[in-house]
Amino acid sequence: MATPASAVPRTPDDVPGWFWKVDQEVFSWFLDRQSDTGTKGDILELGTYLGRSAVLLGRHLRDGETFTVCDLFDSEAPDAENSAEMDMSYRKTLTRQAFETNYLAFHDRLPEVVQAPTSVLADGRIPEGSCRFVHIDASHLYEHVAGDILVARDALAKDGLVVLDDYRSPHTPGVAAATWEAVAGLGLKPICLTPEKFYGTWGDADAAKADLLARDWPGEGFRMEKDVIAGHTVHRLAYDGTPAAPAPAAGATTTPRRPQRSRARRLALDLLPPVVTRAIRRARV
Ligand SMILES: C[S@@+](CC[C@H](N)C(=O)[O-])C[C@H]1O[C@@H](n2cnc3c(N)ncnc32)[C@H](O)[C@@H]1O
Repeated sequence: MATPASAVPRTPDDVPGWFWKVDQEVFSWFLDRQSDTGTKGDILELGTYLGRSAVLLGRHLRDGETFTVCDLFDSEAPDAENSAEMDMSYRKTLTRQAFETNYLAFHDRLPEVVQAPTSVLADGRIPEGSCRFVHIDASHLYEHVAGDILVARDALAKDGLVVLDDYRSPHTPGVAAATWEAVAGLGLKPICLTPEKFYGTWGDADAAKADLLARDWPGEGFRMEKDVIAGHTVHRLAYDGTPAAPAPAAGATTTPRRPQRSRARRLALDLLPPVVTRAIRRARV
């Protein structure tokens, strides 16, 4: 259970927000892979809230790289729809001061903070091709997310990664529309999907997918399934918490495995409103 927004967190999981185990693991895996393959660049987050995902991103920052976060925090939203979204979900708890307190509980210095609508980033302040990782998790409105995707495309270096939050939640159809429109029309290539996030690149998606498959995700309790979407092979990952047992050696007696979650229950978890599935996942993680 996350601590109240005002308390100093002791662990990153104490920071309130929406960033769960499977995405923590997949973020770290992609960022570590970038280090291993020599992909250099800055990190950019659009939509930071109280810092739950920013704390992890900051941990992967290397010498010479810049981490920039962009959020409205306590500022006014640029239009009425965005303002309603802010009032409904964030206003009661979100201040820039609270974000900074949380971030500094785990890091010596703050990232570059842009306190403004993400649309300001289209002004060229993020140098073209400078980023290796962009996390889009701000407004859920179609027009805003479509703009955020263009910012990410221009900001990303070769083989850089873009992550889109809430690409399929029932309450965020605008994110879904902007995400799949970018796949169909802007050349964005999907790599993998989790219940909450879409991971893609304008670079070499096949190499990223091949490396992804080399890790034994099922052996670590993650469910992994494959889809083909408009010619793109995409891997779906979710955290079940029950490592798949290795295949028994020929002639060996098998130890009973904990029962796997039924297909119907998994489907129900995928389809329930996010507030319910998140509560269930939190209880399991
Ligand atoms: C879902 S929260 C981010 C969650 C955070 N990444 C985490 O993992 O906990 C969305 C954030 O986007 C911010 N936001 C909403 N509309 C925005 C806009 N137009 N420009 C900048 N930030 C915005 C809100 O203030 C809120 O902090």
